[in-house]
Amino acid sequence: MNISNKLCSLLHTTESICVLTGAGISAESGVETFRGSNGLWSKLKPEELANFDAFMRNPDLVWEWYNYQKKIIHDVKPNPAHYALAHLQDLVKDFTLITQNIDNLHIRAGSKNVLELHGNIERSYCISCGKSVTHVEVTLENKVPHCSSCHGIIRPDIVWFGEMLPEGVFEMATDAATRCELFLSIGTSAVVYPAANLPLIARKQGAYVVEINMERTEISNSVDETLLGKAGEILPQLVKMKEEIKG
Ligand code: OAD
Repeated sequence: MNISNKLCSLLHTTESICVLTGAGISAESGVETFRGSNGLWSKLKPEELANFDAFMRNPDLVWEWYNYQKKIIHDVKPNPAHYALAHLQDLVKDFTLITQNIDNLHIRAGSKNVLELHGNIERSYCISCGKSVTHVEVTLENKVPHCSSCHGIIRPDIVWFGEMLPEGVFEMATDAATRCELFLSIGTSAVVYPAANLPLIARKQGAYVVEINMERTEISNSVDETLLGKAGEILPQLVKMKEEIKG
């Protein structure tokens, strides 16, 4: 792995790291990404599955799709990139992990206090009373689950197109991006806002911004360094370097 002297010396000194992850970090676990020739959005229409009007029009279809996704996600495991980040949280005083992923793999790998910008497929809530539900039983006969308190329709706790991010979460993410010394943008195409703004906010506030991706992205020209390759190979090496320094 080729890294700059600047990144090497920052790894020595920094106690403040903020990380943003996207679908690419879970690709090596076997979860499909959204964009690219094989991405989910090249096969499915987001407007039929990932927005509130589509859900109200055909909640059975949307639940069927998320149940299918849930099964895939339950069958996969966190990969070395998820575990490396879970370890990194113990190596610096100020560490924030922000993810756009809904697959719960960071939490399964042991990361704590993850800022989930787009929700989590393991959670759901009632659209009438707001009650949150962790385990949803969706049967084949009756695909749409109903709230045990008010009988309202339960929906996945996922941010769909056109919806606001969960209250307060983006503010916490912005705070972390603003105060960190090193910002890592990992496995995201950086085209979905406001998440894609976070590396730019960090850089504007003086952080050193490093992107880890298989290919260059929309923000490659705006970051300090791009490490091209698999997150599951690059991240464990970076974290090992930090660990040896702490030694
Ligand atoms: P994308 O599918 O847009 O981008 C995935 C990125 O990961 C691409 O830039 C790939 O080059 C990169 N990549 C693939 N495999 C990798 C690997 N092994 N190591 C490192 N990088 C790799 O996914 P996101 O940027 O996460 O939103 O998409 C953002 C949002 O768009 C998602 O959260 C989702 C979607 O619509 C919602 O569902 C609300």
